[in-house]
Amino acid sequence: MKKNYSIAIDGPSASGKSTVAKIIANKLNFIYVDTGAMYRAYTYAVLKANLDPKDEKASESLIGKIEISFDENNHITLNGVDVSKEVRSNEVADNVSYIASYKNIRLFLVESQRKIAQNKNVVMDGRDIGTYVLDHADLKIYQVATAEERANRRYKENLEKGLETSYEDCLHNVNKRDYIDSHRSFCPLHPADDSIEINTTDMTIEEVTNKILQIAKERGIY
Ligand code: DC
Repeated sequence: MKKNYSIAIDGPSASGKSTVAKIIANKLNFIYVDTGAMYRAYTYAVLKANLDPKDEKASESLIGKIEISFDENNHITLNGVDVSKEVRSNEVADNVSYIASYKNIRLFLVESQRKIAQNKNVVMDGRDIGTYVLDHADLKIYQVATAEERANRRYKENLEKGLETSYEDCLHNVNKRDYIDSHRSFCPLHPADDSIEINTTDMTIEEVTNKILQIAKERGIY
């Protein structure tokens, strides 16, 4: 039977994971799975149901009652509806770390993530892909950059999208999310023992993707 390959890309917020993961998936003709979008879609569902994302029990009440997946264009969907724009709102960004810290919600979403990777070649990005979701991934990358550089990237991205934020707000958000993501008790953000760390602070997107593609080639992934 033909083996399925998986590449896990983890790291803190705004370290460039999704940009790089998308390019790699495209080049290798693998499926790109943005697990952060799934936590965001769950958060959006909680807000839409007028539940408090800081209330674990209330947030958990949607487990099994909502369906989060990706459509044929690889857009995130909630109960079959494309919510790719909604999940990028400031309100979702401000609350998603609470939702991502709840164990039962994580288990619910991890089940879908593993199903997606079961019979396909995937590039999956997130925080716990190499340590938990796909702990036997063929290649595990841990992508980092300084908080200042990540805030700067987020700030520029927001400007391009016409969103009004200051650099200070972006830095505050990056630091807050780093803290919550790495201090939760279940599956906190940390590098897998067998991951390869890439510090992207002074690297271009092309340099990062080329480096990962080179390692993937050396490992016989393509
Ligand atoms: O990658 P992102 O910024 O879209 O992720 C949104 C949030 O979800 C972020 O606070 C971390 C969390 N997350 C997680 O805990 N585990 C994942 N596998 C992916 C994202």
